[in-house]
Amino acid sequence: MLIQCGALPLTLAILYLMASFRLPTDYLTLAVVQGLLAALITWKLALAAWWRAIQLLFPLALLTTLALQLPSWLFGAGFLLLLGWYWSTFRTQVPYYPSGPAVWDAVRQLLPADKPPRVVDIGSGLGGFTLYMARVRPDAEAIGIELAPLPWLYSWLRARLTGSRARFMRGDYENLDFRQFDLVFAYLSPAAMPGLWRKASAEMAAGSMLVSYEFVIEERTPDSIIRATAGENPLYIWYF
Ligand SMILES: C[S@@+](CC[C@H](N)C(=O)[O-])C[C@H]1O[C@@H](n2cnc3c(N)ncnc32)[C@H](O)[C@@H]1O
Repeated sequence: MLIQCGALPLTLAILYLMASFRLPTDYLTLAVVQGLLAALITWKLALAAWWRAIQLLFPLALLTTLALQLPSWLFGAGFLLLLGWYWSTFRTQVPYYPSGPAVWDAVRQLLPADKPPRVVDIGSGLGGFTLYMARVRPDAEAIGIELAPLPWLYSWLRARLTGSRARFMRGDYENLDFRQFDLVFAYLSPAAMPGLWRKASAEMAAGSMLVSYEFVIEERTPDSIIRATAGENPLYIWYF
């Protein structure tokens, strides 16, 4: 949005020049010029390539939406939906994307067989991992903690409606004490890993393990790396 705002004075200047030369200056021209300038600024700032496409298409999408003359409440509803889904992704830099049953089963095989394991999925999304653990290890204490309200609500309802023992908490895993768990499962993002390591190394109990799907912790070499299937992303494991 800042980039679009930054591009706007330039767009207006260009349109003013075009008008002086009697060139067409309709809304479509405005959207195209604005999109091109915003994409150019994005490229100059060396942001990821997909941001250029977003900046280029944003003014055109805005124009199209205005032309559709949608009722105004729809924008409010859309905003609330996206807010509930993404919540504070701008801060955590961890959006929702799911892991799958093959990965969950590989993690299940890591659980201690000789005692009821306590497992937590930090950032439990729609709850798949936690529900699976509660089902395949009936002796396990399976907990999921999720920051975003909508995915949390969905996982909570799933547990309620299926009669699962899985427990879902709404909150920030930063406020959870990792000492109480035998296995902490994380599927987060590269941005979250340094903070996760600081927390895990300060709190995790002897004999417990941290398992991160896809994203490694640069600060400490994993003790083990496994893959659910040959083509799968790695599961990185640290023992405490
Ligand atoms: C990549 S998804 C993984 C979902 C699920 N664990 C799975 O494997 O399918 C990461 C989730 O973590 C949540 N999340 C990010 N930061 C969090 C935090 N500090 N506390 C709790 N949840 C968080 C996001 O909202 C998102 O739903």
